[in-house]
Amino acid sequence: MGCECCGSAATAAYPAGMTDTGLVVERLRAAGCVFAEEEAGLLADAAADAEGLESLVSRRVSGVPLEHLLGWVEFGGLRVVVEPGVFVPRRRTEFLAESAVALAGAGSVVVDLCCGAGAIAAVVAARVPGVRVFAADVDPVAVRCARRTLAGAGAEVWEGDFDAALPEKLAGRVDVLVANVPYVPSAAVRWMPPEAREHEPLAALDGGRDGLAMVRRLLGVAPWWLGGGGRVLFEVGVSQVDAAVAAAEAAGLVPEVRSCAERDATVVSALSP
Ligand SMILES: C[S@@+](CC[C@H](N)C(=O)[O-])C[C@H]1O[C@@H](n2cnc3c(N)ncnc32)[C@H](O)[C@@H]1O
Repeated sequence: MGCECCGSAATAAYPAGMTDTGLVVERLRAAGCVFAEEEAGLLADAAADAEGLESLVSRRVSGVPLEHLLGWVEFGGLRVVVEPGVFVPRRRTEFLAESAVALAGAGSVVVDLCCGAGAIAAVVAARVPGVRVFAADVDPVAVRCARRTLAGAGAEVWEGDFDAALPEKLAGRVDVLVANVPYVPSAAVRWMPPEAREHEPLAALDGGRDGLAMVRRLLGVAPWWLGGGGRVLFEVGVSQVDAAVAAAEAAGLVPEVRSCAERDATVVSALSP
């Protein structure tokens, strides 16, 4: 999982049809998959037969993200549905989800805005008994995944542009507004691994000139949705912390920064006074 498969060259050395386990591992390794043995096992489990396995291995070697082939990614101990074309939740974001969990309790209203496949919402719903979870995204594929991920969890998933998707009744009543918005600076998108650039929507990655356009949009609407004492939480890169904190203060919020070295994650948590 999480390998930076670079694609193409391996297919010439390892022709189609070679689905013996050892050869699958070799083909994956030659394509740049760091966790080739683990991936080989997962692909073998996902395939119905040898022909299906060959198809999966060929697509993986050509650079299709493993998670899109499997149809799921593990996140926070849960299986989150990821159909082809949807943003694959990152391990780093487990820290944001856990930060939201820590702030919620029975009866809390938690909104996962820009929810993608619904990973954060799913973790909150699974770990906080009695919580009320709402999620929204503009991408119909992401919304379909989130609805599948959250089926049976008692959460509502809405489709639409940013907070316009949310039900009006939540205004002033949200306790935790968590949003892993796109925050990669536009010029840096081209340096992302091909798996992201070629298989995830640009709108899920590109955060504008300094990467913080969507963060500012979030901070602009947060006071409308949050109740007193509510918090808005979002992930940023280390180099973006000062600007994000300044933007939160400019929005009338009281920000604090939390980080997790193990996951290389930085979260801004801003209080609505
Ligand atoms: C970085 S991805 C994060 C997805 C999910 N929260 C996660 O952590 O896996 C950003 C998400 O923002 C969504 N998005 C981008 N622009 C949006 C908009 N204007 N309104 C709602 N969602 C938007 C994308 O569709 C994508 O799912």
